[in-house]
Amino acid sequence: MADKVASFRIPAHIVLGCGAAEAVGAEAKRFGGRRAFLIGDPNLQKHGVVDRIMEGLKAEGLEVKLWTEVEPEPSVQSVDAAAGVAREWGSNLVVGVGGGSALDTAKGVALLLRNSGTLQDYFGIGLAKQRGVPSILIPTTSGTGAEITPNSLFYVPALREKKAVVSAYTIPDVAIVDPLLTLTVPPSVTAATGIDALSHAVESYTSLNASPMTDLYALEAVRLIGTHLRTAVANGSDLAAREGMARASFYAGVAIGNAGTNIVHALAYPLQGQHRITHGVANSLLLPYGMEFNALSNLTKFAAVAEALGEPIAGLSPRAAAARSAEACRLLSMDVGIPRRMSEVGIRQEHIGALVEGAMKMTRLWANNPRQVRPEDAKAILEKAL
Ligand SMILES: [Fe+2]
Repeated sequence: MADKVASFRIPAHIVLGCGAAEAVGAEAKRFGGRRAFLIGDPNLQKHGVVDRIMEGLKAEGLEVKLWTEVEPEPSVQSVDAAAGVAREWGSNLVVGVGGGSALDTAKGVALLLRNSGTLQDYFGIGLAKQRGVPSILIPTTSGTGAEITPNSLFYVPALREKKAVVSAYTIPDVAIVDPLLTLTVPPSVTAATGIDALSHAVESYTSLNASPMTDLYALEAVRLIGTHLRTAVANGSDLAAREGMARASFYAGVAIGNAGTNIVHALAYPLQGQHRITHGVANSLLLPYGMEFNALSNLTKFAAVAEALGEPIAGLSPRAAAARSAEACRLLSMDVGIPRRMSEVGIRQEHIGALVEGAMKMTRLWANNPRQVRPEDAKAILEKAL
């Protein structure tokens, strides 16, 4: 059967490699940037990363206003507040540097500078009227892929939910991926973001929206993570491992930006909204269980995941080979020292009902899932992960 028609979107310009961040000033100038609103992760300031980006912009003659009030898992209110300051200052360019929270904040602010109202007006798919101001996103963790995707996630305190703005207008104009910026990321964050990237790669590879183009990126991301994540966690100054993980995160982001995530992210979002567990850890907790459930849908692809993670699958039946994929992920999570059971982060049986209810609302993600998931299936998977 012929593959279905697939569209493929990525940032217009990608600068990737050690030292790539030095390009920020020249890139900003190329877009006619004069007044740059620089959104930086507050934790990066002590390492001088934000200052280096600011100096790069100033060296090209831009005025810079720095905003570091980035919230972890940013609330809509925090993004509206940042956009208000940027608008009043007359910013015509947004630069985001940091982890997923800083980059999502930057995506929201850039959009609001050319679309009226508040961020809540754009929750949903394709609701923005036009592109935001030009934006440059610079990740400093290897995992979220926020610098590539059309998705950004925000916490709504009143609902205790994370809501998504899904808009091609939020794909940045430039993504700058510099592994040197990840050298100071602590092992626990390297581990959680690395498994988040693995989840992106596996979910997009097995998504109903996967295409031959996204498969290229997704499977290579799995292979890179299998090769480099343990070393990046064990020895954060190993540049080859950091470079491998930066590339993996970017590739996995390209894959989810076009094929989407499914079961793992759908089950993980309520953990974040209802229990304030970070995105990476929430996904890590559910990855092997989601894979075990989905493996039936495509034994060949799950076997390829196992092989890309270094599992010897020669001579195994398709079913046994596919099963090795979840087992390989479980071992990787164990080796990099992140929680493997939901009970380790305070989840109990009495929480399961609300988690199932929250997960079933993620219709955007279930539409990509290769196996139908009923509420009783979600309940069984979450109970296994307890
Ligand atoms: Fe994710």
